[in-house]
Amino acid sequence: MRAIRTRAPAKVNLSLRVMAREEDGYHQLETVFQALDLWDDVWVRPTAGGVRLELDGPEPCPPEQNLAYRAAATYLARSGIRQGVEIRLAKRMPSGGGLGGGSSDGAAVLRALDALFEGELSTEALNGLAADLGADVPFFLSPSPLALGWGRGDRLLPLPPLPSAPVLLAIPAFSVSTPEAFRELARRRADTEPARPVGALDPELAATWGQISDLAWNDFHGPVFSLKPQLGELHAAMAGTGASVVLLSGSGSSLFALYDDPDARDRAGDDLAARFTEVNWIRTRTLTEMPGVAEGATWPAR
Ligand code: C5P
Repeated sequence: MRAIRTRAPAKVNLSLRVMAREEDGYHQLETVFQALDLWDDVWVRPTAGGVRLELDGPEPCPPEQNLAYRAAATYLARSGIRQGVEIRLAKRMPSGGGLGGGSSDGAAVLRALDALFEGELSTEALNGLAADLGADVPFFLSPSPLALGWGRGDRLLPLPPLPSAPVLLAIPAFSVSTPEAFRELARRRADTEPARPVGALDPELAATWGQISDLAWNDFHGPVFSLKPQLGELHAAMAGTGASVVLLSGSGSSLFALYDDPDARDRAGDDLAARFTEVNWIRTRTLTEMPGVAEGATWPAR
């Protein structure tokens, strides 16, 4: 039986600005997404009916709530395909820290189903389905690993990829609650003028890593570092290692640093791992292309 294999990469936000709050309570965002060479493995194969998800790794929620499951169920419902699918998801990236893992798993399933059922849904319908699943999902269907995002992060402009850059990721043992981070941000905004650079994000200004380091920004730093002072300390320590950019990803709790060369990243990784032993330090790099799909893959043994 034909199986499709693909990868669900992690992302970081090279810039993240939180704009106005809309009437539905959600904030408009402006962001620059970058995919990383760190991924979950995903296999999909057709069955007679229904959706079955097998998770290889931690299972934080019931399968029906997993975005990989919901992506498949919604795809089958909207396309009217009278078959089912079985999904195997091997979790390799750490979850829940602003790296977009769940969203990326959902997008990977959509990519696999689009290959399996050969474009049964139009590109527009597929992108609409992705946006309905979650604000970060459309980015993971983007043809480029670098993209400008706005709206809730679901409106996208893919940008020309940049050369691969070394990345050091810090994954703390605790998480940050997204609603709490937004609440704290709104509370501080009411007290003080936002310090954010003025003007809209300009795609022309994300054409080199030098430009990226000038626009690197995350509006959550103030609010999240006040909620979790340990993250502020970690950020300061990472900023002292010669990185060109050090930021929270999303509203955390992951932090990432970009370096000019892998040796500088590795020295920083050794130094920081000795000082912050409770943090999971991951050495990776930025992707220069999004993962494709492999057809005719063998189903993985458990
Ligand atoms: O998207 P998610 O359900 O994780 O968001 C959790 C909460 O974070 C929302 O209920 C909202 O309060 C806040 N949020 C927001 N603006 C966004 C995304 C989330 O205010 N763009």
